[in-house]
Amino acid sequence: MTDLKELRAKARNFAVEHRTLLLKAGAACAVCALGGAFLLFGPPRMIELTESPQFCALCHSNQNGDWLHSAHRREKCIDCHLPNDNFADHYMWKSIDGGKDVFFHFSGLGDGNDTQLTPHGKKVLQANCIRCHVDLVSHINNKRSCIDCHRTLSHRRTALTLTKEEMKK
Ligand code: HEC
Ligand code: HEC
Ligand code: HEC
Ligand code: HEC
Repeated sequence: MTDLKELRAKARNFAVEHRTLLLKAGAACAVCALGGAFLLFGPPRMIELTESPQFCALCHSNQNGDWLHSAHRREKCIDCHLPNDNFADHYMWKSIDGGKDVFFHFSGLGDGNDTQLTPHGKKVLQANCIRCHVDLVSHINNKRSCIDCHRTLSHRRTALTLTKEEMKK
């Protein structure tokens, strides 16, 4: 108990001594929070902007062109390519994948038009297929990759009429 009292007294002394410093730090935090909220939710609406297919298309023009011809053109890229099970998971992977994409693009180490899904990207995709088509697929093995059979869902094969031989490639 006495320890706690001492600690409180120390904290109070510290606050009194460094009042202006703390006030400045508090003000800086408030400005940052307000600025961040403005960018994300205010007129620039960064969250909405960076979730639109038009934004993804800046670096993925090939996939965007194919997607526009697909049965899923009313679903957004992120409906398939980000986790949509809960808010936290969605925004955590939005930051990780978004950061990775931007890094690869501007470092020249990767090309958005010539890339492949990561193993994690495949899991996310499968979960999203099941999420939207849950009624239809409730009676089949959901562990099996949907796109093993639904091969034209892959952007490179969308909107093409392929022969059996071409499909093997
Ligand atoms: C600034 C350019 C840029 C933007 C904008 C961008 N990407 Fe990418 N993306 C890339 C690059 C470069 C790669 C290749 C990175 C690599 O080789 O791993 C990539 C890879 C991918 C991959 C395959 C690798 C993986 O993570 O499974 C997917 C899927 C993807 N992006 C989806 C999206 C979506 C969805 C959006 C919009 C929300 C988007 N990207 C916006 C540049 C971008
Ligand atoms: C209906 C779900 C769905 C939607 C919507 C969707 N994709 Fe995909 N995406 C896929 C599938 C399926 C693959 C291929 C997986 C494979 O073959 O390994 C893929 C693969 C990719 C890849 C990896 C490279 C490649 O071509 O295989 C990128 C990049 C990508 N998509 C970007 C996008 C962008 C950008 C959009 C929006 C303009 C989008 N996707 C919309 C299902 C989707
Ligand atoms: C965001 C919800 C959503 C996601 C994610 C989604 N779908 Fe769909 N899917 C739809 C809707 C809506 C339609 C009906 C489109 C129409 O009839 O115009 C559709 C149509 C289809 C069709 C019939 C049309 C066709 O292309 O042959 C198949 C097959 C299909 N989806 C499979 C998949 C697979 C496999 C995945 C995962 C790669 C997937 N879907 C992801 C909503 C979704
Ligand atoms: C063993 C192959 C196979 C697998 C794996 C498979 N499907 Fe299918 N699916 C079919 C066949 C065959 C049809 C009926 C023919 C058609 O419409 O394409 C069908 C039909 C559908 C349809 C209705 C298409 C329409 O035109 O209305 C949807 C949606 C669909 N599947 C989604 C999925 C999803 C999501 C998965 C993964 C959980 C999946 N399928 C896994 C073979 C498969």
